[in-house]
Amino acid sequence: DTAALARAESLIRTIPDYPSPGIQFRDITPLLADAAALRAVTRALIEPFAAAFDVVGGIEARGFLLAGAIAAEAGVGLVPIRKAGKLPRPAASVSYALEYGEAAIEAHDDLAPGTRILLVDDVLATGGTIAAARELMTTLGAEVVGTTVLMELEALNGRALAGDVHALFVI
Ligand code: PRP
Ligand code: MG
Repeated sequence: DTAALARAESLIRTIPDYPSPGIQFRDITPLLADAAALRAVTRALIEPFAAAFDVVGGIEARGFLLAGAIAAEAGVGLVPIRKAGKLPRPAASVSYALEYGEAAIEAHDDLAPGTRILLVDDVLATGGTIAAARELMTTLGAEVVGTTVLMELEALNGRALAGDVHALFVI
């Protein structure tokens, strides 16, 4: 409900100048540590997608913190979308741009073709991570039915890259 979500949002802590000067880091650990807040955001993250997905795709690392809770709440399984080099048998790899340099994400190919997947991450910033995850899952034959995040950093215009995203808190 609205009050529980407002309370959850109030538990996101802003840390100035982390990890580098001028950056305002949004720390979700106080929210995660609070049972009512974690429950409220877990429910709200999946609310627009009720019964529309067969599996949740959690994006390493902070996306994992929400993906397990979402999968349990929705009664579906979970696919880890991992940073390159972490999975034993990656079936596909997609590179994406970081502020400095580039990274890649990988996944196994354990989904039946056409499996409906909901992508989950903590933050939509530039959109590069979510765009890469979407491409990765599509390459593996899944159908990405949506993307859900706790926070959208609106000034970075991540939707230009990531497409439509359900964001609980717009900052
Ligand atoms: C952070 C955040 C998102 C991503 C958003 O992940 O958790 O996944 O950046 O940025 P973007 O929209 O500009 O791609 P990061 O890889 O920094 O760290 P993590 O492993 O702690 O999740
Ligand atoms: Mg991340």
